[in-house]
Amino acid sequence: MRSLTIVFNILSIITIGNAAKILCVFPVSAHSHYTIGHSLAKGLAARGHQVTFAAPFEEKESIKNLKSVYLEDVKKQAEERFSKSSIFDIANVSAIVIIPFMSKMGLWFSEITYADKAIQTILNSNETYDAVITEAFATDALQGIAYHFNAPSILVTTIGPSTWTNYLTASPSVYSYISNPFLSFTQKMTFYQRIINILAAFLQTSFNSIYSFPQHEKILHKYVPDAPNLYDLIKNTSLHLFNSDPVLHVPLPLAPNIVEIGGIHIEPPKKLPDDLQNFLDDSKEGVIYFSMGGNVKSKEFPQATRDAILRVFSKLKEKVLWKFEDDLPGKPKNVEIRKWLPQQDILAHPNVKLFITHGGLLGGIESLLHGVPVVGIPIFGDQALNMKNAVNRGYGISIPYKEFTEEKFSSALQEMLGNPSYSQKAKEMSILLNDKQVKQIDKAAYWIEYVIRHKGAPHLRVAAHELTWYQYYSLDVILFLILIKIVLIKVFWIVVKKLCNRLCSRKQNKQKQN
Ligand SMILES: *[C@@H]1O[C@H](CO)[C@@H](O)[C@H](O)[C@H]1NC(C)=O
Ligand SMILES: *[C@@H]1O[C@H](CO)[C@@H](O)[C@H](O)[C@H]1NC(C)=O
Ligand SMILES: *[C@@H]1O[C@H](CO)[C@@H](O)[C@H](O)[C@H]1NC(C)=O
Repeated sequence: MRSLTIVFNILSIITIGNAAKILCVFPVSAHSHYTIGHSLAKGLAARGHQVTFAAPFEEKESIKNLKSVYLEDVKKQAEERFSKSSIFDIANVSAIVIIPFMSKMGLWFSEITYADKAIQTILNSNETYDAVITEAFATDALQGIAYHFNAPSILVTTIGPSTWTNYLTASPSVYSYISNPFLSFTQKMTFYQRIINILAAFLQTSFNSIYSFPQHEKILHKYVPDAPNLYDLIKNTSLHLFNSDPVLHVPLPLAPNIVEIGGIHIEPPKKLPDDLQNFLDDSKEGVIYFSMGGNVKSKEFPQATRDAILRVFSKLKEKVLWKFEDDLPGKPKNVEIRKWLPQQDILAHPNVKLFITHGGLLGGIESLLHGVPVVGIPIFGDQALNMKNAVNRGYGISIPYKEFTEEKFSSALQEMLGNPSYSQKAKEMSILLNDKQVKQIDKAAYWIEYVIRHKGAPHLRVAAHELTWYQYYSLDVILFLILIKIVLIKVFWIVVKKLCNRLCSRKQNKQKQN
């Protein structure tokens, strides 16, 4: 009988697993964000789920069980908005500006996502979903989509957990050692850094509660009129997946409904195109792979910076493989450029000695999985923090873009290529990063299926969402205990005084009698 129940349970798990209909909405128009969402959607489809994946990127290949929805309006508006300025322009912007900037960008993405024709079609269809997965990037209003479909709300954030995101699951935001991701402090902050970190948290919390949340509330009710308060939706978050790994990111205390799936986008190595394979095979002196990622274009480096980089490369005996989106007149003989490069497969090649990167998380995970050390030129967002982690762990050198000079770049490369400790450390880290119980996609799928099986899994949520801020920090209790202490001290003094008075008067009486 018991074994029958077990068989039945397993069968029902398998059937529910196979039957799930899942809607994924990944509106942020950055290729790395799309990559994370698409890897997740693809992985779920491969396990037999019916997945609808909406993103501002056109799907080229057709994948079984995966229906792609192109968010064309989002794509157009994002192109318009971001075409005006180069990413290099915001390298100099301080956290005071970045924190409100990111919140406003999240609001903007929420609005244009709801307004997109394809999303409107989905919302107005009679379709049902067993779970709704949305990208959480200060896009709180989008939780209304899960509400609309009466399905568990699952969030995915393409950077690691931090004080920027932890309010969604009420996970601990400890300001003494968890840095705001835009400040890029490490876990060991100085007194001054702790002051700045707590002020940044204050800025972010106040900006959210005074400006962002009321605006999200408006967007939410404009598009999902019957939705409850935004805060009720946030409290109802079932699962939050993060593109991070404690080995690479920072180890943090996390609520049980937070799951780290960094490396989910890693694919088994594929064969390289012949020209690249030959180039890498023939470069016995070693290859430096250089890419600034999908959003930052190498061709947008100012001319002077570009010339400086080429001068440094021309003095190296190693070959350089550079993802460069244009022609590059005057490039030295040892530099090879391509508009696009299969990064994971290149990093897997044994002749690749070093990766020059902008410090994005995906590239960081890929290079470390293959044990390749990094020189980073971080520009904005979490890149500086990712690079600091690489420096602290001994497998990277960081030259923030705004401090970039030819001398610094040259000596960083000399140090990296001359000192084997960096690549040794990267290889050690690779072993740690590869040591996983199951593949990250299986971990993500397990938890998504778990949440579907258990109707949103409210039992995983911490109680912190139910507390007011003064209860959360125990301020009411501390105040109460201080009051008690004051009262006790007062009472003690009164008693002592009374006793003393009595004793003294007795003494005086005795003296008088004598
Ligand atoms: C949804 O169902 C309703 C009632 O069954 C029907 O009137 C409506 O046309 C359907 N809408 C779509 C988009 O299929
Ligand atoms: C919370 O999520 C569940 C699904 O997990 C849904 O049925 C319910 O309506 C949601 N409640 C609120 C207040 O969002
Ligand atoms: C950043 O600002 C500093 C000083 O204000 C300036 O010297 C530097 O050129 C700026 N860098 C960029 C990339 O704009």
